[in-house]
Amino acid sequence: MKFFIDTADIDEIRDLAETGLVDGVTTNPSLIAKTGRKFTEVVAEICAVIDGPVSAEVTALDAPGMINEGRKLRQIADNVAVKVPLTPDGLKACKALSAEDTMVNVTLCFSAAQAILAAKAGAAFVSPFVGRLDDIGGDGMALIADIVEIYDNYAAFTTEILVASIRHPMHVIEAARLGAHIATMPPAALRQLYDHPLTDKGLAAFLDDWAKTGQSILES
Ligand code: E4P
Repeated sequence: MKFFIDTADIDEIRDLAETGLVDGVTTNPSLIAKTGRKFTEVVAEICAVIDGPVSAEVTALDAPGMINEGRKLRQIADNVAVKVPLTPDGLKACKALSAEDTMVNVTLCFSAAQAILAAKAGAAFVSPFVGRLDDIGGDGMALIADIVEIYDNYAAFTTEILVASIRHPMHVIEAARLGAHIATMPPAALRQLYDHPLTDKGLAAFLDDWAKTGQSILES
């Protein structure tokens, strides 16, 4: 399973890139707005830090506008994935940009029917938003299970399932259990994956006992 981080904060991205566990980055207009910085500069910086796909979202609503914006974003770096919304125009743009060998991430997917359309439009990634579905009393993980099952039926569907709107480690675990290709998560959720109180407790006990021996590994 690949891990993407869902942020446009370059300091966070640099810090987490050092773990060696980050395979890509997703951004959206809200995350870019939070930085208060110029969109294209932020995307260029992220692309220089991360080897894998970096999603940058268009804001035009019509297909020609999205295609123009997508072409511009694509020129920033080879690892830019152009993000388009799951609308009829978004999928037209997806088809056109994919035909030009641009990676396209179709975002704001909330149903299996939409995921089928994204795959048919040649998307490199489809982003079902599990957290936002859970927020309104839906079942985000049931959607992931449906998409995995459907895509598995068709060898021609090469779109990767990028589980988005992740809120906590259980979302990541469930997505992995279902065989989703990618989980994109906020930095805090990635850091939470490391945590277990028994790890902290066990380490403290080991180090206490070790200190009593008076030994040092490097000096023995
Ligand atoms: C994914 O690409 C989106 O940017 C993101 O996961 C949305 O998450 P949110 O629902 O926490 O805003």
